Amino acid sequence: MRKRSLTGIKPTGEPHLGNWLGAIGPALELARDYDSYYFIADYHALTTVHKAEELRQHTLSIAATYLAFGLDPEKSVFYRQSEVPEIFELAWILSCFTPKGFMNRAHAYKDALGKNTEAGRDPDFGVNMGLFGYPVLMSADILMFQAHVVPVGADQKQHVEFARDIAERINSNYGQPFFTLPEPRIDDQVKTIVGLDGRKMSKSYGNTVPLFSEEKALQKRINQIVTNSQTPEEPKDPDTTPLFALHRLLLTAEEETALRQVYTAGGMGWGMAKKMFFETLNTRIKEPRLRYLDLMSNPTKLEAILSQGGEKARAEASQTLAQLRSLVGIR
Ligand code: TRP
Repeated sequence: MRKRSLTGIKPTGEPHLGNWLGAIGPALELARDYDSYYFIADYHALTTVHKAEELRQHTLSIAATYLAFGLDPEKSVFYRQSEVPEIFELAWILSCFTPKGFMNRAHAYKDALGKNTEAGRDPDFGVNMGLFGYPVLMSADILMFQAHVVPVGADQKQHVEFARDIAERINSNYGQPFFTLPEPRIDDQVKTIVGLDGRKMSKSYGNTVPLFSEEKALQKRINQIVTNSQTPEEPKDPDTTPLFALHRLLLTAEEETALRQVYTAGGMGWGMAKKMFFETLNTRIKEPRLRYLDLMSNPTKLEAILSQGGEKARAEASQTLAQLRSLVGIR
């Protein structure tokens, strides 16, 4: 039997280059070797997105992005977290086996506390229970479908470890291997995608390259990548500019070597380097952009794809949950 991979994306913003190169792309590659599950973590997004129209819109656009880059809903299970309410029942059961101390140590929660303390506010200011319990819900996402591997960014590693730990507690308490123990899969090559300013590409830093904006807007955004004041004649160091760090992710090994030479030879201005990156990126996303725009103009079709996947996921989840209820003595 093929092993299973599962991953989710939180619909909290417009899809950007980091989402594709760092998460969606590598996750879709796993479909070749794994039985794969992909979902939109809409209830995770609700911990921070409190505008209904935004949440709705971002959910559709992340779904369309997965499909635009080649997710095949016939070959994978593709769904919206909220369409599988069994996940929430599982989350409660898991929370009864989760030491509160785990949550106190969760990175996202600790960051919030740190910021509040620094600002002289109550440490829990702005922290809702959804944010505090986020890792339990994520564990339910993973354990419900008995995933072996969970492709995630480095910042999510701790969450997958929590899931594993909670699963072990339940397995050992009831003396049987009920849950598969999941492992995080972090793609080294694309560990961190840098943004326009050289920091991690993230919506919260405002340094992203949106994936599906029009060509003009895309070019404008790329022109904002930080460079230095070197003249066109001077040789450029490819390893100290976010421009090259991004560009190389779209190239084969030979193409990367060739581009390196263009940088170090001198005679290439930053404007030229940006233009080359734009061309490469634009060529790669031309087709996906068309598919994305087509899907976004047809929300009924998108909804239909998601609910079909939701039914598949739900059928399986309700069986697993029934077995678990009986294992723990509820029924
Ligand atoms: N927390 C993940 C993120 O912010 C999203 C997510 C929710 C997820 N549930 C998951 C990822 C389950 C993998 C598996 O990126």
